[in-house]
Amino acid sequence: MIGFASVVLLGCRGPQSALEPAGPSAAMVATLWWSMVFFFSTVLFAVVALWVYALFRRSPQQNDEHIRRVARRWIVGGGLLLPLTSVTVLLGFGIPIGYRMLPLPLEEEPMRIRVIGQQWWWEIHYPDARVITANELAIPVGHPVNFELSSRDVIHSFWIPRLGGKLDVMPGRTNILRLKADESGRFRAQCAEFCGWRHAHMILSVEALPEEEFEAWLRLRQQPVTVDSSHAGAVAAFQQNCGQCHTVNGISNGRVGPNLSTVGIRPFVGGRAKSEGAFLTWLRDNPFAHEQSPSAHTSLAPNHSTLAPQHHELIAAWLETLGHE
Ligand code: CUA
Repeated sequence: MIGFASVVLLGCRGPQSALEPAGPSAAMVATLWWSMVFFFSTVLFAVVALWVYALFRRSPQQNDEHIRRVARRWIVGGGLLLPLTSVTVLLGFGIPIGYRMLPLPLEEEPMRIRVIGQQWWWEIHYPDARVITANELAIPVGHPVNFELSSRDVIHSFWIPRLGGKLDVMPGRTNILRLKADESGRFRAQCAEFCGWRHAHMILSVEALPEEEFEAWLRLRQQPVTVDSSHAGAVAAFQQNCGQCHTVNGISNGRVGPNLSTVGIRPFVGGRAKSEGAFLTWLRDNPFAHEQSPSAHTSLAPNHSTLAPQHHELIAAWLETLGHE
């Protein structure tokens, strides 16, 4: 029994677990979750016990009036009073949790981060630091952050389970979500609204860093990329073929696709944990390309077919170095 429980509960840990909170909002969500599990397990066991009792008890002879009276009691008690009380208690917990994630006035000015969802990646802006990046997010530990959420295409949902609840990311509208991290660590965020063919791969790496490390993280993303002479050929090919869509600081200014300035140190490539040769595979066969996803008419992702095969390895090797100082 203990073995079984520990196997089951192991699934509750990890970088994307709402049950391993790393911030005040997430802690409240986890408490609510455990209370609900406890309360509804009790209700379940009580109902099953009553059911078993009803199955096996011998029915005494009773007149119709008595049977109707008992039935009415069950309907009023079990069908009205019990659910009403449960929902009221749940709201008593749930409303303050939602309230906490609203961008209410604070003594300390919260940090602003703009998050733009699109099929199937996240663009992240730090307006005050003039940093734009993609699929990677860092926040300073202990500081409240206002995430300003918007979308370029369909409805997505922004969710960092270890920091708090989720909020819809909608085109034509900015929703603000307030979150704070109490401890440093690397977490994982996930798009939580079905948004097309590659929805499951719309993930985001999240780091909560101590103040100084956070400043260094921003500085790295402000600098132009320095190019080793051995990659000159790759850079020329990139500027000619990729720069219209992708920015690499100091190399190109495209704004259609993800900013690639630090792509070599991001833990995910194309919504998967980075593996050996991931960039090469991506360049040869972009699985997000619109040719491959008949349902995704709005996806802008090309299959990189305009890129000459001899450039694939050159560019992949260079991308691998981006972000390493
Ligand atoms: Cu974006 Cu699901």
